[in-house]
Amino acid sequence: MKKKVLVTGANGQLGKTIQELNANNTKGLYFMFVSKSELDITNLDDLKILFNKNSFDYVINCAAYTDVEQAEKTPKISYKVNAEGVKNIAKVCLEHDTVLIHISTDYVFDGNTNSFYSEGDQTCPISVYGASKLQGELNIKNITENYFIIRTSWLYSEYGNNFLKTMLRLASERDKLSVVSDQIGTPTYAKDLAKVILRFIAEKTKIFGTYHYSNDGAVSWFDFANAIFKYSNLEVNLKSISSEELPQEAKRPKFSVLDKKKIQKNLKIEIPSWEDSLKKCLVNIQKSCN
Ligand SMILES: NC(=O)c1ccc[n+]([C@@H]2O[C@H](COP(=O)([O-])OP(=O)(O)OC[C@H]3O[C@@H](n4cnc5c(N)ncnc54)[C@H](OP(=O)(O)O)[C@@H]3O)[C@@H](O)[C@H]2O)c1
Repeated sequence: MKKKVLVTGANGQLGKTIQELNANNTKGLYFMFVSKSELDITNLDDLKILFNKNSFDYVINCAAYTDVEQAEKTPKISYKVNAEGVKNIAKVCLEHDTVLIHISTDYVFDGNTNSFYSEGDQTCPISVYGASKLQGELNIKNITENYFIIRTSWLYSEYGNNFLKTMLRLASERDKLSVVSDQIGTPTYAKDLAKVILRFIAEKTKIFGTYHYSNDGAVSWFDFANAIFKYSNLEVNLKSISSEELPQEAKRPKFSVLDKKKIQKNLKIEIPSWEDSLKKCLVNIQKSCN
């Protein structure tokens, strides 16, 4: 019997990436993809109706309020989606014996360290977005035991808005660009993350809990931008600046590299380097332009 999987927030960059994987390979899984206009996760009644009509083995929650800057100005909406909406999903998952796969963020950490963050390390968000995502994690843990929370970082893809696409756009609009070099983390290609999410299902793993996943390696945003331009053969005058020089509402962790030993061991996976995955994504973007 095919496993039935609900994907919420299906029109975001991760949701679209899972849709793309599904279009190319549907082995053993039946997906229902719902966008925000089809299912608002902050509406518990709508979630109940959907779960009463369908029996899902898994929910992959890709729905989130991800505007880190705007969240500082409108914290209510950030908490409503990232904490209350996630609580709603956890509730219906518990009632219907459905496994919840939820995506969280490196921004649950404050970044005041030089060592990789493990799953059990002390969380201490320094932004509204990070705090609302942490509250979402806590809500899940308080409601159900059948969950995988996958914290990831610096997500990019061919879809939606992300740092990679912003850099490519700005390179065509401006002669000079400034990018911060004092925030260190790891870019994550959404396709790699999506494959790992589907592997949790394929492996039928029952080792529930929190996991870290990003690509391999560590870079600054400045290094990442440099690599984007290098592998796109773009000549850009790129200036390195400090976080203090960039006027932003939300504070970001200075160091948020995730330790991925747990996911590597439990899923027996190899993790691609951030540079190899960046090159693959750029090839795919190029293909879609031709
Ligand atoms: N992007 C990153 O750098 C990053 C880094 C670490 C972790 N993450 C996490 O990774 C996950 C996927 O991120 P992403 O980059 O794919 O985000 P995204 O592109 O912003 O997608 C999120 C989707 O959720 C939808 N959504 C918002 N409110 C909703 C609601 N109330 N009900 C249902 N859907 C709703 C959005 O719709 P609208 O666009 O119409 O509002 C959007 O389609 C999120 O949990 C995010 O927190 C992201």
